[in-house]
Amino acid sequence: MNRPIKNKAVFAQPTIHSFMVFPEDMNYAGTLFGGKVLAEMDKSAAKAARRLLYGTACDGAVTASLDKVDFVKPAHVGDFIELSAWITRLGRTSIEIKVHVIREDHEGNLEEICNGTFVFVSLKEGKPFPHNCELSANLN
Ligand SMILES: CC(C)(COP(=O)(O)OP(=O)(O)OC[C@H]1O[C@@H](n2cnc3c(N)ncnc32)[C@H](O)[C@@H]1OP(=O)(O)O)[C@@H](O)C(=O)NCCC(=O)NCCS
Repeated sequence: MNRPIKNKAVFAQPTIHSFMVFPEDMNYAGTLFGGKVLAEMDKSAAKAARRLLYGTACDGAVTASLDKVDFVKPAHVGDFIELSAWITRLGRTSIEIKVHVIREDHEGNLEEICNGTFVFVSLKEGKPFPHNCELSANLN
């Protein structure tokens, strides 16, 4: 088994997650249900947190909090929804992740529909455990 990385430097690059809007994702107003968007945002943030923790001594991360979420535009059946998750701050065990949600309509128009900030906590055996990661300057 590989030894855990002691101090992992992380570049601030986005983690991408996407899905297409299907009829079962609608609210009764005929637009994309907010709860569906929140669940997908949580998944995209979880993906970013998991990637951060590869090679560390942690064995998982959970959502600790979700900050103010703004639903700025609706989305419709057939739209592609792309979520970008950015790690914006690292504490001892906390991982702050900003998520932007973009819709792509049938003509290829792109528009932000939602954004929010999550905090995940890194764990080992179910308890908060230091991830020993730090954010590096983005070289791009
Ligand atoms: C998140 C959880 C592991 C924190 O456990 P805890 O014993 O309260 O953690 P601590 O007080 O030791 O804090 C650990 C870290 O979490 C952060 N934290 C804890 N609760 C937080 C909250 N509500 N919002 C933001 N950060 C939080 C602390 O600031 C600390 O960060 P740091 O290590 O970078 O300084 C625990 O509350 C839990 O298991 N919650 C349920 C998580 C879950 O099931 N999520 C799925 C959705 S229900």
